[in-house]
Amino acid sequence: MGRGSGEAGRDGPARTVAREGTPHGEVALRRRGDVLELVVDGAFAMDTVDTSTEVALATDALRRHQAPARVLVGGLGLGFTARAVLDDPRVEQVDVVELAEPLVRWARQGLVPELAGLEGARCALHVADVADVLAGEGGPVGPWDVVLLDVDNGPDFLVHAANAGLYEEAGLAAAAAALAPGGVLVVWSSHVAPGLLAALRSVAGEDAVVEEDVLAVAREGRTFTYATYSLVRAGC
Ligand SMILES: C[S@@+](CC[C@H](N)C(=O)[O-])C[C@H]1O[C@@H](n2cnc3c(N)ncnc32)[C@H](O)[C@@H]1O
Repeated sequence: MGRGSGEAGRDGPARTVAREGTPHGEVALRRRGDVLELVVDGAFAMDTVDTSTEVALATDALRRHQAPARVLVGGLGLGFTARAVLDDPRVEQVDVVELAEPLVRWARQGLVPELAGLEGARCALHVADVADVLAGEGGPVGPWDVVLLDVDNGPDFLVHAANAGLYEEAGLAAAAAALAPGGVLVVWSSHVAPGLLAALRSVAGEDAVVEEDVLAVAREGRTFTYATYSLVRAGC
């Protein structure tokens, strides 16, 4: 199951604000009343009806670190995770890595208020595949104190099949290796994912702590069960 439905319980037709093809499929922003929707490769990716878990992804991770100076956010989306990171005054530098170049361009242009004004002295937007960045193959260079991954629905309902590796041992090991000592990695999922939890446990060193947090969100008359998966690296 993805996040929300993108349709139910909403008034009026959707108006396309912007759409553009990319090598990874079309990316589009749609407005339905006050709600902004992101569509990636023809699939509803997210909207602004309830962004509590996108925000919690950031705040829960930051709470687990004493001095989170450098943060990597994988997946710009509609910018809620990145903005929540920037709201923490302890954070000095945020690298947001986004696969869809038009989305970064629209954010820079301030096309919609939700994405406007993110980039600045403390925040850089990068167009790249976060898997490549974590593997050290271009883009911003770590280590980071906090790495947040919200690039897809989770391992069992992928929008981009190519993202599968990020939820498997090799991708998670690369993300854990990109952490500074004491660093925190958190992965968002639209569903409880036992395989992801097991993979994270298997890449965690002896002293790392791995946790699953299940997050229930009520919307459109239904309850969605999202989850985050965290790994906290041992400090120096
Ligand atoms: C669900 S949205 C992220 C939502 C975001 N947490 C927020 O608060 O708005 C997922 C984003 O990840 C991007 N994405 C997908 N695969 C990616 C990858 N491999 N590397 C970087 N970004 C990716 C998508 O284009 C989309 O913008």
